[in-house]
Amino acid sequence: MTSILFVCLGNICRSPLAEGVFRAVADKSGHGGPLRVDSAGTGAWHVGNPPDPRSVEVAARHGIDISRQKARQVTDDDFHVFDHILAMDPDNLAHLKRMQARSGGTLPRLFLETPDRAVPDPYYDGADGFEQVYRLIEAGSLALLDRLAR
Ligand code: 4NP
Repeated sequence: MTSILFVCLGNICRSPLAEGVFRAVADKSGHGGPLRVDSAGTGAWHVGNPPDPRSVEVAARHGIDISRQKARQVTDDDFHVFDHILAMDPDNLAHLKRMQARSGGTLPRLFLETPDRAVPDPYYDGADGFEQVYRLIEAGSLALLDRLAR
């Protein structure tokens, strides 16, 4: 079993989308072996809430249902549960690194290994921002699947 946790700030825009898109891409590729995929936020403002309607909508447009997810905050335990803890941007990575220094366990990394490194926070953007986030997450998910297969 390979387990992956995607992390952003609120766990309502980017990481729920990454959870849904990565799961879909992995299922479609016939990824060998069981996968546990989850997402969380470094912040607590939206705990218990469903994903942002703009993320639900962009996912639905691409045939993916993320509407039943519920936001949660990253915990120290996560570092002892997940094999991969992947941050959506350098600020969230810095937060995760501080947590990991206390808790031990899995070292967090950036989700994107491309030069832009960040899936930008779309919270204050319009629908265009969410489509851009979707494309970055889809490309990042394919690259991640490739890394996991090697
Ligand atoms: P996310 O987006 O980190 O991709 O879920 C955000 C959601 C909410 C806030 C910031 C970013 N917020 O400040 O409430």
